Amino acid sequence: MKSIFYTSLIIAMNISCFANTPPDDGRTARAKYVSSLINPGDIGAEIGVCEGVFAYRVLLQNNPSKLYLIDPWEYGLQADYEPNVTPEKQLARDCQYQRVCAYFAPYENVEVIRLKSEDACDMFPDNSLDYVYIDGEHSYAAVTRDLTNYFSKVKVGGYVIGDDYGWTGIMDAVQDFLKEHANECFFLDDPYAGRTGGQFAIKKLN
Ligand SMILES: C[S@@+](CC[C@H](N)C(=O)[O-])C[C@H]1O[C@@H](n2cnc3c(N)ncnc32)[C@H](O)[C@@H]1O
Repeated sequence: MKSIFYTSLIIAMNISCFANTPPDDGRTARAKYVSSLINPGDIGAEIGVCEGVFAYRVLLQNNPSKLYLIDPWEYGLQADYEPNVTPEKQLARDCQYQRVCAYFAPYENVEVIRLKSEDACDMFPDNSLDYVYIDGEHSYAAVTRDLTNYFSKVKVGGYVIGDDYGWTGIMDAVQDFLKEHANECFFLDDPYAGRTGGQFAIKKLN
C-alpha cells in the first residue's frame, strides 16, 4: 500500500513540476567567468548538479562535445543543510533527478550520472576531461576529496573550476591543494569575486 502511495506521489510530482528547461537563476557573472575558461567541443563534467541550472544555462550553452552531470540526488548527504531525512524529502530529490533527465534528454552529448562524485571518478580515465566544475558537497573534506580525485582526470592545459570560493571550507581546501601541487598547477583569480560568491579555477600545467 505504502509503495503504491509513493509511486503515485512520484508520478504526480513529475507531472505537476515538469518544465522543459531548468529555471534561470540570473547569475550571469559566474556564467561569464566560467564561459571564458571553457571552449566549444570540450569534454567536461559537473559535480553537484541539483536542478541543472548551471549545467543547462552555462555549460551546455558552450557546446561541449560531452558533458557529464554527476550528482547522487540523495537527501541528507550534507547533514548541516539537510537534517531530518524523510521519504518525502528523498522523493523530492528523486523528482528533481527525473526533471534533470528530462531537461537533458534531447541532448545526446549530455550524460546524467546518478552517483556520488567519489564513486563516479573511476569512470573517467586520467587526462580525459577538458574541465571539471566542482559544486557538490561544500565541506573542506569533500572539496579536498573532489580536487584530489578529479585533478588527474583533467588534461594538461585543462581546468578544475569550482563555485563558492568564498566559503571557508572551500577556500582552505583549494589553498591546501595548491600548496601540495604547486609545481603542477596555476591558480586564476575570479574577476567577479564578491558579486558572485566567487569561483576558483586551477589550470593543470603538467
Ligand atoms: C549547490 S548544489 C549544485 C548546484 C548546481 N551546480 C548549479 O549551480 O545549478 C549542490 C549539489 O551537490 C550534490 N552533492 C552533494 N554531495 C555530492 C557528492 N558527493 N557527489 C556529487 N554531488 C554531490 C547535492 O546533491 C546537490 O544537488
